[in-house]
This record gives sequence, C-alpha cells and structure tokens, in this order.
Amino acid sequence: MASQTLTIRKPDDWHVHLRDGEMLIRVAGYTARQFARAIVMPNLVPPVTSVEAARDYRKRILEVTPPGFTPLMTCYLTDRTSPDEIARGFSEGVWVAAKLYPAGATTNSASGVTDIRNIYPVLTRMEKIGMVLCVHGEVTDPDVDVFDREVVFIDRVLTRIVSDFPELKVVLEHITTSDAVDFVRSGRVAATVTPQHLVINRNAMFAGGLRPHAYCLPVAKREEHRLAVRRLATSGLPNVFLGTDSAPHERHAKESSCGCAGIFNAPFALESYATVFEEEDALDKLEAFASVNGARFYGLPLNEELVMLERAEVEVPHEIERIVPFHAGETLRWRLLA
Ligand code: NCD
Ligand code: ZN
Repeated sequence: MASQTLTIRKPDDWHVHLRDGEMLIRVAGYTARQFARAIVMPNLVPPVTSVEAARDYRKRILEVTPPGFTPLMTCYLTDRTSPDEIARGFSEGVWVAAKLYPAGATTNSASGVTDIRNIYPVLTRMEKIGMVLCVHGEVTDPDVDVFDREVVFIDRVLTRIVSDFPELKVVLEHITTSDAVDFVRSGRVAATVTPQHLVINRNAMFAGGLRPHAYCLPVAKREEHRLAVRRLATSGLPNVFLGTDSAPHERHAKESSCGCAGIFNAPFALESYATVFEEEDALDKLEAFASVNGARFYGLPLNEELVMLERAEVEVPHEIERIVPFHAGETLRWRLLA
C-alpha cells in the first residue's frame, strides 16, 4: 500500500506576488504557512526599483508574517536601472535577484524594459557579481499571437541573453510551452513551474463560458504543452523548481470586461503540486523540486525544518479572503499538516 504521509524539507516559493497594503495582510500568511522563503516579485505600484524601496517593502512583509518566514526581495528592472544600484542592493543583502519584465507584458509591467539592450550594462554587472536574473519570458509585440509570446521570446531575446552573458544565472519563470521545456533541458537556464501550468490547459479558460479565474500570464497553452511541462517538473532535473506565481486580484478585478491576469494559488499550492507529482508517479521527486533545487541554484542553504503531507482529501473553498483561489470548489488528494 502506498505510504499515507510524505515528509520533506520545508519548501520555498521562488516566485510569488505578495502585493502590498491591505492585500498583503490578507494573503501573505498563506505563503508563509507553506514556504520558508519566497522570492517576492517587485511589480507594485510604483514598482520596487530602489534599494530603499525593497528594504521598506521587506519590512512591511515581515511585520505581517510569522517569525521564520524569509522574504527574498527582487529589483524591478527598467530602462534606467543603474548597475551601481543593482550591485549595492545585492552586496547589502537587500535583494537576491532582479526581475526582467518586458514593458507591457503583464500586470504592472508598464515601467519594464522596452529593449533588452537598455539593460546590457546591468546584465554585465549581474553576471560579474553572480546575481540571478528572473525573466518574464514573453514578447509584447502586438503582431505576435498571445499563445506564441513565450516561444518568440525564447527565439528573439533569451537566446541572445544567454549567448551574450554566458555566466549570467537566468531563471525562465512560469514556463508554459514544450519549447521552453526543450530550452530548459539544454541546461543553460533554470525554470520555475506554477501549479496552474501543470493542471490546466487553455480549454480551462473557455469551459462552458469565459473563466476569468483560469486566466494568468503567460496564458495556459495546449494540452501537449502542459504534458511537456509536467514531465519536466517531475523529472528531478536540478535546474527546475517550484515557483507558484500566486497572483491575487480582487474578485471584481478578475470578473470584469477587462479582467486582470493572475491566479491566487498560495493557500493550497503544495497540495496541488503533490497531487500532480503523485499522478505522475513522481512523489520521490517532489522534495528536489520544492525544497532543494531552487536553494542550490540561488546558492542559499537548504531549510532544516520539515513539513508533512498526509494522504487525505482537501476541499478548496470557493472563496478565500474574498478572492477566488485556484482549484476553487475542487478536492485535492494531499493535505499539508500544520
Ligand atoms: C502577475 C500579477 O498579477 O502580478 N500575473 C500573472 O498572471 N502571473 C504578473 C506576472 O507574473 O505575470
Ligand atoms: Zn508572476
């Protein structure tokens, strides 16, 4: 009989949106309950572009999360980011990575980078000091079909970054396509994988009507892509790790004539991943994906604390903190014990 419990090192979330203000207070505890550390995305309004802003934001997160949770901060890259500011924040231990949003690619990315050449001096410095570049890998050219934005980004931008900066540590985030999977399998970049891109394909957005709560960016793709992403995530490869991309939006902002991109998956993220890993007969690979590979990539120590999941049905509520969570109304097969 299959084991009824699963004990692993406490996981980390290598990509999350904790937001700010009242929303931060509502959602941060869900991430802190599941994860020891989290890479916190800087796409606030205004974006986190300075060392001081990141330090202040970190303080606000620490004020609303239990002791033991460590937010790892990121710098939002713009056309005007200075290499000195990047290096200062890194050496002062304020941020561990910088985030590349192509301008206009997603929520609060208007101040992002308009041309990759504008940040070449920054990338040169990051390569030198060993700082990680997190990449939202989608082009924004309106001529490119929305479902092709990731593959075109890989062809046009990412291949150039990795050839021009051979030592730069790069994470291609929230991958969604078999093209990204192939690129990651080559070993040159790392990748994070979200729960939703393991679970849904693009049909989920149109199941019986328009489903705004299945909409995030990069948008879910065809089934063949989901299957490729699942095989990669459960492969045990060292350059592939957990990043929820939990991205809460108010219900009215999702259920709107122009609904926001983002899925709030923090409350049941581990339960969702564990269910997928079991379906793929890869529960023995969950710890590497969730708790080991990311820390090694970032050069951080592994967490010593353990967490236990038990095989038990968990019902996901229709609403949490007035937000519709991922898997709302569904039953998952693993439960994270307190
Ligand atoms: C994110 C958000 O809402 O901040 N949305 C999303 O769909 N993933 C931004 C992002 O990571 O693209
Ligand atoms: Zn994100």
